[in-house]
Amino acid sequence: MQRRLLITGGAGFIGANFTHHWHRHRSQDRIVVLDALTYAGNFANIEALCTTGNIRFVRGDIREYDLVDKLLREEQIDTIVHFAAESHVDRSIHGPAEFIQANVVGTQVLLDAARAAWLRTGIHHRFHHISTDEVYGSLGPEDPPFTETHPYDPRSPYAASKAASDHLVRAYGNTFGLDYTISNCSNNYGPYQFPEKLIPLCILNVLEGRALPIYGDGLNVRDWLHVEDHCAAVRLIVESSPAGRTWNVGGGTERTNIALVQDLCAAVDALFDESRTLRERFPNCPASRGARAAELITYVKDRPGHDRRYAIDSRRLEQELGYVPRVALTEGLKRTVAWFLDNESWWRGVLSGEYKHWVQRHYG
Ligand code: NAD
Ligand code: DAU
Repeated sequence: MQRRLLITGGAGFIGANFTHHWHRHRSQDRIVVLDALTYAGNFANIEALCTTGNIRFVRGDIREYDLVDKLLREEQIDTIVHFAAESHVDRSIHGPAEFIQANVVGTQVLLDAARAAWLRTGIHHRFHHISTDEVYGSLGPEDPPFTETHPYDPRSPYAASKAASDHLVRAYGNTFGLDYTISNCSNNYGPYQFPEKLIPLCILNVLEGRALPIYGDGLNVRDWLHVEDHCAAVRLIVESSPAGRTWNVGGGTERTNIALVQDLCAAVDALFDESRTLRERFPNCPASRGARAAELITYVKDRPGHDRRYAIDSRRLEQELGYVPRVALTEGLKRTVAWFLDNESWWRGVLSGEYKHWVQRHYG
């Protein structure tokens, strides 16, 4: 069956990877990408795809009801995959208001437009909402990983805004009969990730010989998921999940932040030790002057309310839909470092924009 998708936030990190992934697997489908191109959105992430006749990019805000309504109708969209959001916890601490606007109001507007376009016509449809493990709160060291029935306990403005959006999606399913699914995933990493997040931030800082800021004692734990595994899971859910279901998606790889950054440093050192070209291209990288990347690790003030541990139990998705995460963390980190080395012009462009102000404001 041919689908006609609206991918919101499709010029951001995960949305762009998902647009590439979907097109690779289902090139017959029509895709409309709707993205406001905020600081984290980047048309370059999907530009190459937009030359194919099947993919259209529209710059716009999900809060603009008339725009969303028009797109759903003129493109006869039957599937929405909703990634658009403000996504960075630290920014939500500096300014929660934008998170309520984009994540809560934005989701509500999208739901209203979907309801108006789909429910009166009886069209077969699906609204898939991308959420996060952060809605479940923080785990102790011995607690079992989050299952789909774990009570909600969001603890940052970002997590609270995502929890609110999850509740809205379920409410539109229950009250109006909207056909929806939700996925709550762990920390993604991979190509196109905006360098405000830990892994790309550390990769670029190592290349330039800048400090690697580790919050608090570095012992907070995250469950790392390669973005390609996440995209495969979302496609599986959109294609085969019954309506009204929630699915947890994790990588099964818990690491303390300090261990993760040490692994990342080792991956960079190994590549530089093998390559004179890299040492010449990045003279400020520690490995270019006989030092080790881990020497740049610097402990800094902790994030307020910093959640101690997230871990995801993906067994429901594995057992019922056959999900298997395929990218092991060591291999995924290596591939991610290699992607940033191969795409210098991409990240040089990113570093020259609003990002500079963020780094100045947040790290001083
Ligand atoms: P990102 O910040 O890289 O990208 C977000 C995209 O949404 C950007 O392209 C931005 O321009 C767009 N956007 C923001 N507000 C918009 C608006 N009002 N209208 C239209 N577009 C708008 O984020 P990401 O890391 O790719 O995250 C995508 C989704 O996945 C988010 O919903 C996030 O909550 C969720 N998520 C992310 C992770 C992760 O590790 N990155 C983990 C779990 C869940
Ligand atoms: O768990 C899923 C969530 O993962 C997503 O919902 C969010 O959108 C995504 O941003 C991510 O949130 P985190 O806060 O876990 O990701 P971040 O990369 O900001 O931080 C990862 C860990 O590293 C976290 O414990 C904070 C720490 N950290 C982060 C930065 C930016 C540092 O120690 N130093 C830093 O400079």
